[in-house]
Amino acid sequence: ATVYVPPHPLIQHWLGVVRDRHTPGALFRPALGELGRWLTYEAVRRDWLPLTATTVETPLAAATATFIDPMVPVVLVPILRAGLTLLEGSQNLLPLARVYHFGVVRDEATLEPTIYLNKLPAQLDPDTRVLVLDPMLATGGTLMAALEALVSRGAQPAYIRVVAVIAAPPALQKITRHYPQVQIYTAGIDETLNEVGFIVPGLGDAGDRSFG
Ligand code: PRP
Repeated sequence: ATVYVPPHPLIQHWLGVVRDRHTPGALFRPALGELGRWLTYEAVRRDWLPLTATTVETPLAAATATFIDPMVPVVLVPILRAGLTLLEGSQNLLPLARVYHFGVVRDEATLEPTIYLNKLPAQLDPDTRVLVLDPMLATGGTLMAALEALVSRGAQPAYIRVVAVIAAPPALQKITRHYPQVQIYTAGIDETLNEVGFIVPGLGDAGDRSFG
């Protein structure tokens, strides 16, 4: 996978807010929403969203105009629970995207992911542009489960982009090995996982801090 850490002041600002343990849940959630918004902005601008050229009439004359191609499906896949917080900002930028919820819980002892909700359709158009939303990429097991589900339904890795907030090296290595074409957009890359699989320094447990 190619990993991008966009050097955007708003991304850096909101990353600081979500890292701070003193940020309460009521502010943590909208801060993740902002990160979803700005990372989505970054993720869609490099040759991902297909455009179509046409002409419109301004009040004065004809002008060429470029719009998002309505024929190419755009899909958002929030990974429950924590990915729901990113969806807020992402969906604001792509209001016509379909949203397919995908629920994964990581076993606290083994760190193995279990899929408990999969709202993906049986088949995806191979042209579909997919944004997977998950704030934390730790071991990468959760994201692997989501990518396997997407690809087995026809999504093409080259058209899948991941919006994360913090990524750790084990996840980045795993995704790069299995899905070299997938691009990851994250606010930061942290050094380590601790003995219970949390990213350090990270931001704690994004699901618990968002939803209790
Ligand atoms: C956390 C986090 C990621 C996942 C990352 O979810 O939000 O989805 O773990 O871990 P991994 O890369 O090692 O698989 P969690 O299972 O805590 O669920 P939650 O979002 O519902 O709290």
